[in-house]
Amino acid sequence: MKRVALVCLAAFGLFAVGCKDNVKSTRTFRLPEGNAVNGQAAFVSLQCIRCHSVAGVDLPPPTAPALKTLALGGKVARMRTYGDLLTSIIHPEFALSDARSPEQQAKLLTSPMRSFNRVMTVQQLIDLVAFLQPSYSQLEPLYVMQENGIP
Ligand code: HEC
Repeated sequence: MKRVALVCLAAFGLFAVGCKDNVKSTRTFRLPEGNAVNGQAAFVSLQCIRCHSVAGVDLPPPTAPALKTLALGGKVARMRTYGDLLTSIIHPEFALSDARSPEQQAKLLTSPMRSFNRVMTVQQLIDLVAFLQPSYSQLEPLYVMQENGIP
């Protein structure tokens, strides 16, 4: 009997948590398909190239100081989802990249990447994600372990 009561309580708890999260849920959030070619053009015109190279894409080399630059794409331990990339672009402070060392992270309390939200169109944002996403690929599990110091 006690067990049944516990299970009911747990179920109700989960339900309550679910309800609370519901209004902020991004589960049904969808953007239309982007155009990668236009995304590359936006990447250049918005001057993302000042700080970023993109794996497998021929672009002028970044001109910003090294601490402010980051190579995008390539093999990563944690794949970037559509949501990760969107968030990185429109809310850089939230998505501080795990590509930096802890020392670099400590020096950067805020992201050197400024907000583009007032100058970037929604279409550019959609196209930027379509351009960047295919440049990421998943590291093989063995290399993920080595990257994290596991022999
Ligand atoms: C002043 C330099 C600078 C500029 C300009 C800049 N970024 Fe960034 N960006 C960064 C840095 C540094 C990071 C690493 C995370 C952090 O510190 O915010 C980053 C992170 C990112 C990430 C997440 C990368 C990952 O693998 O997690 C994406 C995506 C990104 N930038 C896209 C863009 C796009 C698109 C533009 C142009 C609209 C842009 N950035 C302009 C410096 C810049």
